[in-house]
Amino acid sequence: MNLDVSTVLITEDEIKKTVRRIAQEITRDFQGEEVTFIGALTGAFIFMADLVREVDLPVTIDFIKASSYRNKTTSDGNVQITKDISFDIEGKNILIIEDIIDTGNTLRKLKQHFLLRNPKNIKLVTFLDKPSRRLVDIESDYVGIKIPDEFAVGYGLDYDNKFRNLPYIACLKFL
Ligand code: IMP
Ligand code: MG
Repeated sequence: MNLDVSTVLITEDEIKKTVRRIAQEITRDFQGEEVTFIGALTGAFIFMADLVREVDLPVTIDFIKASSYRNKTTSDGNVQITKDISFDIEGKNILIIEDIIDTGNTLRKLKQHFLLRNPKNIKLVTFLDKPSRRLVDIESDYVGIKIPDEFAVGYGLDYDNKFRNLPYIACLKFL
C-alpha cells in the first residue's frame, strides 16, 4: 500500500492566518487573566508552539497524553490518560489544546479529567474539526478549520506516527 500526501487540504499560509485568528480570540476573551495551556500529545505539539507565541497573555504550559487508538485511523470510547500534568489546576483558567476533534471521545475524557480538579474555567481549542464524525455530544470552544471526513496529516497530525512534520495539512490517500 502506498501513502500519498500530495493533496493539500490547508496551506502553510492558511495555517498561519488561522493560528493568529484563534490567538486573537483567546487574547481578547482572557484579557487581564492568566491562562494555562495544556496540549494533548502528540498531535498538538506544533499547533501549541505556534499558538502560545501569538497569544498576548501571561501563560503557563504543560502537556498531557491520552490514548485510545483501536486502529490507525479512528479512536474508540475507551480513552486512557497515559501521561498526566504535574501541577494543581484548582482555580485556574485551563485551555486544552488538541490537533483535531473527530468522534469527540478524547476531548470528552480530557474535559472530565480536568473538571474533577476544580479549575476556574475549561475551554477546548482544536485546530481542526470533523463535525460529521462526532459520536459524543461535545464541541470545541475555539475551532480553527472545519474539514470534511478525510484523514488529515501534517502540522502535527499523523498516520501511524508519520507525516507530523509536514508544514501543511494534507489529505492522506491510500493508493
Ligand atoms: P477523537 O477522540 O475521535 O475526537 O479523536 C481525537 C484524536 O484522533 C486526535 O487527537 C487525533 O490524534 C486522532 N485523529 C482523528 N482524526 C484524525 C485525522 O484526520 N488525522 C490524524 N489524526 C486524527
Ligand atoms: Mg491526538
